[in-house]
Amino acid sequence: MKNIVIFGAPGAGKGTQSDYIVQHFGLTHVSTGDLLRKEIADATELGLRIKSLMDDGQLVSDDIVIEMIDRAVAADRKGMLFDGFPRTVAQAQAFDTLLAKHGREVTCMVDLEVPEEELMRRLLERAKIQGRADDNEVTISHRLTAYREKTLPVAEYYASQGKKIVIDGLGTIKEIWQRILQELER
Ligand code: AP5
Ligand code: MG
Repeated sequence: MKNIVIFGAPGAGKGTQSDYIVQHFGLTHVSTGDLLRKEIADATELGLRIKSLMDDGQLVSDDIVIEMIDRAVAADRKGMLFDGFPRTVAQAQAFDTLLAKHGREVTCMVDLEVPEEELMRRLLERAKIQGRADDNEVTISHRLTAYREKTLPVAEYYASQGKKIVIDGLGTIKEIWQRILQELER
């Protein structure tokens, strides 16, 4: 059973490419960002607690997302694509333990690499169309800082396990999908 991690900075195209990957391989898509935004939209107790953090572009606590992932893995029978998780080395370590508990392991990590100017351009473009609360210049810069300081070491974690696949994330959406497909079908 495939358990693929899609990794990259804010705006790298994780969500966009996830749609193609789950469709092609018949996987369950889990985006921690989407799950957290749903808690906020539903104004749950958790949603109220995390709203100000997310609006400021900070990460929510490891415990919260690990619990969400644990529930999603327990419910899945198809294989999964993890989008926006793990985002800290502590999450990656807890994830290995959690997957082992379910008799699974990470198959590989797809790392979408995109320069920062292009990330900012894409997110400000999206801000004009959609209303994501964290798509404004100040919050985007906080998200990029959190990515550099807390999330980038996760790439090294998977590289050291020989599981990191680097994909050039510049080009058209279709071109990037073809690059990913070629690597995943190896
Ligand atoms: P999350 O929802 O994961 O957001 P993110 O990482 O900031 O990334 P985005 O969803 O904005 O970008 P993406 O890489 O999915 O790109 P997309 O395909 O949308 O996290 C949000 C927040 O939740 C975090 O800040 C944190 O607070 C919290 N959180 C989530 N997970 C957490 C965790 N594990 N631990 C702790 N906290 C967590 O593309 C972006 C735009 O570019 C779109 O408009 C798209 O149409 C466009 N685009 C895509 N591909 C291309 C292309 N090739 N060319 C041109 N435009 C393109
Ligand atoms: Mg996304």
